Amino acid sequence: MIDPTTLPTPRFVEVGPRDGLQNEHVPIPLEVKVAFIDALSETGVREIEAGAFVSPKAIPQMAGSFEVFENIRRKEGVIYSALVPNEEGLERALEAEVDKIAVFTAASETFNQRNINCSIAQSIERFRPVVAKAKDAKLPVRAYISTAYYCPYEGHIGPEKVLAVVDRLIALGVDELSIGDTIGRASPFDVRMLLEHLLRRVRLESVFMHFHDTYGLAAANALTAWSEYKISGFDSSAGGLGGCPYAPGAGGNVATEDLAFAFGASRARITLDLPKIRAATALLEPHLGHAMPSHLGRIIPKPGA
Ligand code: HMG
Ligand code: MG
Repeated sequence: MIDPTTLPTPRFVEVGPRDGLQNEHVPIPLEVKVAFIDALSETGVREIEAGAFVSPKAIPQMAGSFEVFENIRRKEGVIYSALVPNEEGLERALEAEVDKIAVFTAASETFNQRNINCSIAQSIERFRPVVAKAKDAKLPVRAYISTAYYCPYEGHIGPEKVLAVVDRLIALGVDELSIGDTIGRASPFDVRMLLEHLLRRVRLESVFMHFHDTYGLAAANALTAWSEYKISGFDSSAGGLGGCPYAPGAGGNVATEDLAFAFGASRARITLDLPKIRAATALLEPHLGHAMPSHLGRIIPKPGA
């Protein structure tokens, strides 16, 4: 039997303010986004993806990201990051004084074309000056690889396609990889297939897993990556919101509170405060027009309820 004390402490990246909100159709007011992020800052989380400097035509909900960064209360020790697709986005991110940027591409050509309007090779070339300038500004760089297991247009994606993109991103000098199950279709079997190959060429600490929870397997996938491969980096979204407009049918990200509970129940050391996460999601709820998909959101009482 695996001794959980030999396994690493999970590190969570809270992507709720970006991935969680980007697919919400009703515009969320600036002050609500700011209050949500400020509340998340108090939950014990180490990093929050607070916005995206992308085309407002592509993702209208992220149009106010500059103002979000201007208005949030930055808590010492918390990293506030943002998505950046190109040099134009980087300029805005630098002006907004982000702590870290994330570039994003995919293992599927069709998804990448729909999402950022270029091929995988073109996206890597686009990132070259972005990564170099971010490094000059001493900003760490994360790189997302979407559709790492399944693509909504191309179906199953083999590990070799992911590894080819990983090699190019590592050569660019990115610090961290986030491996995206964009449509939430992966199983523990798929996770093993990919990690067996991936961990032969990248540092364990540089790998984050980004699971959407469409089929309810996200927590099982994360626990597999942690208990069998000692992966410690996981993305999650408070309340379980999320999805990409170019990934039809995708469910939300695994809910932060559900993932933290799954790890805690598996005897991992967890420092996140679940009632405080519930308090943060309660601020968003009245503005969504629908319920949040999180399991624990239904179990932990809302503050004042
Ligand atoms: P394009 O149309 O090819 O770009 O879009 P362009 O360079 O030809 O510019 C067209 C217009 O966009 C111009 O404005 C530019 O100024 C503007 P116009 O002259 O027409 O008024 N523009 C920008 N505006 C603001 N910020 C920018 C920017 N760049 C250009 N940075 C582009 C290419 C990449 C910009 C566009 O396709 C885009 O923004 N896509 C973003 C898509 C996106 O954000 N998707 C969701 C995030 S990815 C995701 O969710 C997956 C993830 O969670 C992991 C997983 O689950 O797998 C990360
Ligand atoms: Mg995502």
